[in-house]
Amino acid sequence: MADYDFDVLVIGAGPGGYVAAIRAAQLGLKTACAESRETLGGTCLNVGCIPSKAMLHASEYYDAAANGAMAKMGVVVEPKLDLAAMHGQRKEAVTQLTGGIEFLFKKNKVEWLKGRASFESADSVKVGERIVRAKNIVIATGSSVTPLPGVEVDNAAGRIVDSTGALELAAVPKTLVVIGGGVIGLELGSVWRRLGADVIVVEYLDQILPGFDDDVRKEANKIFKKQGFQFKLGTKVTAATASGKSVSLAVEPAKGGASETLEADVLLVSIGRKPNTDGLALDKAGLKVNARGQIETDHDFRTAVAGIWAIGDVVPGPMLAHKAEDEGIAVAENIAGQTGIVNHEVIPSVVYTMPEIAGVGLTETQAREHGEVKVGKFPMLANSRAKTNHEPDGFVKVIADAKTDRVLGVWVIASVGGTMIAEATLAMEFGATSEDIAYTCHAHPTHSEALKEAAMAVTGKAIHI
Ligand code: FAD
Ligand code: NAI
Repeated sequence: MADYDFDVLVIGAGPGGYVAAIRAAQLGLKTACAESRETLGGTCLNVGCIPSKAMLHASEYYDAAANGAMAKMGVVVEPKLDLAAMHGQRKEAVTQLTGGIEFLFKKNKVEWLKGRASFESADSVKVGERIVRAKNIVIATGSSVTPLPGVEVDNAAGRIVDSTGALELAAVPKTLVVIGGGVIGLELGSVWRRLGADVIVVEYLDQILPGFDDDVRKEANKIFKKQGFQFKLGTKVTAATASGKSVSLAVEPAKGGASETLEADVLLVSIGRKPNTDGLALDKAGLKVNARGQIETDHDFRTAVAGIWAIGDVVPGPMLAHKAEDEGIAVAENIAGQTGIVNHEVIPSVVYTMPEIAGVGLTETQAREHGEVKVGKFPMLANSRAKTNHEPDGFVKVIADAKTDRVLGVWVIASVGGTMIAEATLAMEFGATSEDIAYTCHAHPTHSEALKEAAMAVTGKAIHI
């Protein structure tokens, strides 16, 4: 190995980095992973996917008890919120899962280099006081919150917070204003609405959930409004000031117009995330970022500099944990001389609200830009299991190529939409037609039958509608 310390050095131990490190070690490569956090697992395990799902799951139970959904099924309870215990189970999930990654590192002999990494040259990196040389370096430094000029986040004070602060509020705010009607705003807005907050979402665009299918965006908006969310669409926040116990914010129409003032106990800023490259000294390695601050790679995750690779939130594409993980596996396999591929056309996306909102592939608008399409839609109200479970909201929509019948996109709003989208993703990965899904036997009674019916609806054959 000449005078290299490692075959592979991964920078960042999020779902991209830790998976890349473990896979590289499995393939017999001497591997280290630099991580500056106290615990492994990155944004996802520490302050992202996992703690947010812990709060979503727990608050869903509370909501079901408080809003009469349980009483409707004959279970009468008077819920009492123990927020400290709810936070306790969130922290426990994080501790167990981040500890699990540490165990996997030990098991696979991945060395954890504790500290911030920065390039010294194209093949050497300084981590803390140590300088290490590696034949291959994988940048998996992830992303962090996009700041909003004029709105200063102070998570410790708990008034103007980002997603990390919003996971840890010590009390349920009376009013929570959320800037950004995207994934974080709707998930964390749901948590605090369920626990009793009035939630107002201020969104710059004229609809929530950009990037999702238009029908889904409209229906989601209706469902969330019914749940008590208030939306101020086409609106921007121009300034916010926290004073002691409240926040005062100035909002005005995105296209310009009269300004108004909103008062809130807590303001959540969730307007997107930006790639982490600050302090990496990319210039010393000969690397540049693009206009969006991302590190560009080729199909194999090679950057412009030989021996340096990049994956996850720091490269272009959706900022999703499963996309980062798949890239982690692929990059390790490519480094080992195997063929590591990620099909970026088929990456599912899920918003873990109630109901869940999920999609994979093209939206109807995008699909129509490519040619003629056929669309099949089936409402969850007509699905026997959803109806029995008192979960009538939502639908499944299958978009297929009009000539070949190949499925181009699937969109779901359903209580278990996140689970249902896996089947659609697998079907699309295998190049399925709508007929393939329609003629696949689906267990009864399951929510998944709605996907079969939507696929049948593509050719006008749905039975239960
Ligand atoms: P990260 O997870 O961000 O990890 C990068 C790591 O690199 C960090 O631990 C960081 O400390 C470390 N690092 C950075 N720079 C250096 C350096 N110079 N030296 C050493 N270490 C460094 N995605 C989903 O798919 N599903 C979800 O349900 C979901 N929920 C989310 C909820 C929230 C509130 C947030 C904020 C995000 C959520 N995401 C979700 C997105 C998901 O967390 C990210 O897409 C994912 O973590 C990206 O993985 P990554 O490995 O690229 O980067
Ligand atoms: P987002 O990109 O999902 O949504 C941001 C929203 O803010 C958009 O609707 C945008 O139009 C709006 N916006 C931008 N600037 C604004 C302004 N000045 N005023 C008002 N609105 C403004 O970003 P979000 O919610 O911060 O999440 C970041 C990323 O984290 C997501 O893109 C996603 O990749 C990831 N994530 C994924 C989750 C999941 O998979 N379930 C959960 C949470 C986060």
